[in-house]
Amino acid sequence: MTESVTITDNRTGESVEIPIEHGGIDGKAFAKHMPGVWFFDPGFGATASTSSAITDLDGANGILRYRGYPIEQLAESSTFLEVSYLLLFGELPTKEQLDNWVHDVTYHTFIHENMRKRFMEGFHHDAHPMGMLVSAIAALSTFYPEAKEIDDAHVRYKQINRLISKVPTLAAMAYRASIGMPFVYPDNQLNYAENFLSMMWKVAEPHYEPDPVLAKALDVLLILHADHEQNCSTTTMRVVGSSHSDPYSSAAAATSALYGPRHGGANEAVIHMLNEIGSYDNIEPFIERVKAGEERLMGFGHRVYKAYDPRARIVKEQADKVFQVTGKSPLLDIALKLEEIALNDDYFKSRNLYPNVDFYTGLIYQSMNFPLDMFTVLFTMGRMPGWLSHWQEMLEQDQRISRPRQLYIGPGERQYVPLSER
Ligand code: SDX
Repeated sequence: MTESVTITDNRTGESVEIPIEHGGIDGKAFAKHMPGVWFFDPGFGATASTSSAITDLDGANGILRYRGYPIEQLAESSTFLEVSYLLLFGELPTKEQLDNWVHDVTYHTFIHENMRKRFMEGFHHDAHPMGMLVSAIAALSTFYPEAKEIDDAHVRYKQINRLISKVPTLAAMAYRASIGMPFVYPDNQLNYAENFLSMMWKVAEPHYEPDPVLAKALDVLLILHADHEQNCSTTTMRVVGSSHSDPYSSAAAATSALYGPRHGGANEAVIHMLNEIGSYDNIEPFIERVKAGEERLMGFGHRVYKAYDPRARIVKEQADKVFQVTGKSPLLDIALKLEEIALNDDYFKSRNLYPNVDFYTGLIYQSMNFPLDMFTVLFTMGRMPGWLSHWQEMLEQDQRISRPRQLYIGPGERQYVPLSER
């Protein structure tokens, strides 16, 4: 048996054999023998848009590995900045490499004062932090015009560094602006997660003391969100980046894609759903509405995972640790009951609907006092190194500009009709 497919055009009787490599067949080989015939695949459910060495997903078995390392081991033993290095550069760093990387990220956390005074303070008081973040990330491109030199590896490194360093500062600024509190400058004595908590919560105390359990839980959640192969926002990063747009503009587009409730906005939607259910008694009627197609069980289902999302399992473990500090979320029991029912109901089992990364994440964020509209902002912070890793890989692969085809189903040629005759 050869690892290939043979495609026969029954209109001509001509056949072509195309090898199966890394689980795929080369579209160009197909197009060469079948000109003008396109694969129709809206949502890219059966399409590999690229090859990548960054993240390996096995959806059937619930396996997730970053550069070959299982997510469970990284969540247990690594840190978000070390994982960011691994995603970006392909190997776990030596101590010297990690120290240099952490130093570079730590010392680029400040934002240009014009950005703070004239931009972030310019938003309406009830502006959604994600709308602010999308805009602010794009605006960074105006402060660093050299970012357009995407072929210069040193210039790329500096922008990658700035985006990973500055997004927490922008994220905290968005929150502080929404509650009318003064911005808190970064504290370079704190680690990545601790510094973000300081910029979020510091009030009048001279030095913010982050809770170590909460800071560690946040760091683990950032690891879990760091990459997930060709999801909607990462595909957006690659598509926009393929036009050789600068990394800030590409990351702003990716952030916009993440904003949607079907994608990164689901963690916020889960809490709205749990609040709507409100009590045990309402769970069964809600499940019936989901099965009738009137509602979606947010935080459930996944395009790739047809088993339990391995990240959801780890999030659940972190939730127990957080709740020991913050007290148990009042919505936890409803979430656990929903999961128990869904995992035993044929409607969900037959559709391979399991909890995904967003199902329990929101409960942790809520217990840590993050407002709902900051949840997807936290997802953005976590996913930034993943987006940048794929952006860099796409440039190193020297990929062509993304430009898919279509199946035209509109009218044939017709003649213009003057307004007086319509
Ligand atoms: C993320 O891609 C990634 O990797 C994303 C992500 C990442 O790290 O980047 O993992 C992060 O986005 C996780 C997903 C967060 N979204 C949600 O939790 C929103 C709720 N889930 C869905 O809307 C849905 O499951 C998607 C969007 C996640 C996946 O959608 P698909 O693959 O297009 O699946 P589908 O809509 O074609 O559904 C298949 C069937 C349908 O039923 P039938 O038409 O066959 O009868 O399953 C049903 C759907 O109605 N279905 C659901 C459901 N999700 C799918 N029914 C009820 N509740 C759900 N959540």
